[in-house]
Amino acid sequence: MGVLVAPSMLSADFGKLDEQVDLINKSDADLFHLDIMDGLFVPNISYGFPLVKAIAKNAKKPLDAHLMIVDPDRYLEEFAKTGVEYLSVHWEACNHLHRSLQKIRSLGMKAGVALNPHTPVHMLYEILSETDFVLIMSVNPGFGGQKFIENSLLKIKKLKEIIIKISPSCLIEVDGGVTLENAPQLVKAGADILVAGNSVFGASRPAEVIHSLKQL
Ligand code: DX5
Ligand code: ZN
Repeated sequence: MGVLVAPSMLSADFGKLDEQVDLINKSDADLFHLDIMDGLFVPNISYGFPLVKAIAKNAKKPLDAHLMIVDPDRYLEEFAKTGVEYLSVHWEACNHLHRSLQKIRSLGMKAGVALNPHTPVHMLYEILSETDFVLIMSVNPGFGGQKFIENSLLKIKKLKEIIIKISPSCLIEVDGGVTLENAPQLVKAGADILVAGNSVFGASRPAEVIHSLKQL
């Protein structure tokens, strides 16, 4: 399987949402990455169900929702009902992560765990068998268009080693500051899914950037 590309809709122009969704539908992208922020877990508020539903209505590719919210258990069912297929919760936001992941799977979605830049990958050791994908935050969550944190590369390599040993089907998603320049290293280190916001929607020809990322 080649690398999957997940454009982050946080950087899209919501004033012409249908057009932007259509752009992703027609591109080589694999997933719609949806960043949900509550102003508590992260110092920003993004968007909620009305916008997720507006995207879901026209999206022809699976939705990948990244919950940057406290106590995400409150909303797992609603995301499933909205048609989300990949759902990640933050390791730092869950007191009972095992229960949250089982609930996500029981609702028919792929269960992901997102890690902040300061959280070591070995914290996942006991939970990896319950996890379909790990989202490595390569910026501090909360905003698009930030600079890639270089240490993330090492985290991906370390995580890949653990995954190969104990849960080979688990995917690695990298989120934050991904560009055409650093993407080849990320894929080489073990990334399976690349999230890209600013580097896609900030480009004059987004579909070409997506196409180039897919070639890696
Ligand atoms: C940040 C979000 C990211 C963000 C990525 O908190 O989780 O998904 O939209 O945007 P770029 O690619 O611009 O860093
Ligand atoms: Zn994200």
